[in-house]
Amino acid sequence: MSHDLYLAAKAAMKSAHAPYSKFPVGAAIRTEDGKVYAGANIEVASYPEGWCAETTALGHYVMGGGGRIVEIAVVAERMAKISPCGGCRQRLAEFAGPSAKLYLCDDTGIAETVTMGDMLPYGFRGDILK
Ligand code: THU
Repeated sequence: MSHDLYLAAKAAMKSAHAPYSKFPVGAAIRTEDGKVYAGANIEVASYPEGWCAETTALGHYVMGGGGRIVEIAVVAERMAKISPCGGCRQRLAEFAGPSAKLYLCDDTGIAETVTMGDMLPYGFRGDILK
């Protein structure tokens, strides 16, 4: 069942706009109601202004109504078991609790499963800001 989330991330990767790094990445997020939100990295000529696949997927997730995130899959064409960058860990942790599963994928499927808690221990939490 979780293989389909990998397939969604891989399909999204095909839409990557990565002419500078030539490093396409895809991500897919599933909420507890079964909805899937996917995204790819989008680069711009002013390099720091580009953003990651996870961030695109999160944008779709928020605009689609959000909900409790249960699974996240990330895949890159040129790197097995790509792991979300620090900024994306913080962005994912804004919406995904520590028990959400994160699938690090390779060319054939899920290569390793970790949790958001594994990915961002001791992360900054915004509770006090609310
Ligand atoms: N990238 C992602 O999309 N997700 C990550 O977690 C790491 C990096 C993208 C950003 C950039 O477009 C390319 O990979 C090379 O850094």
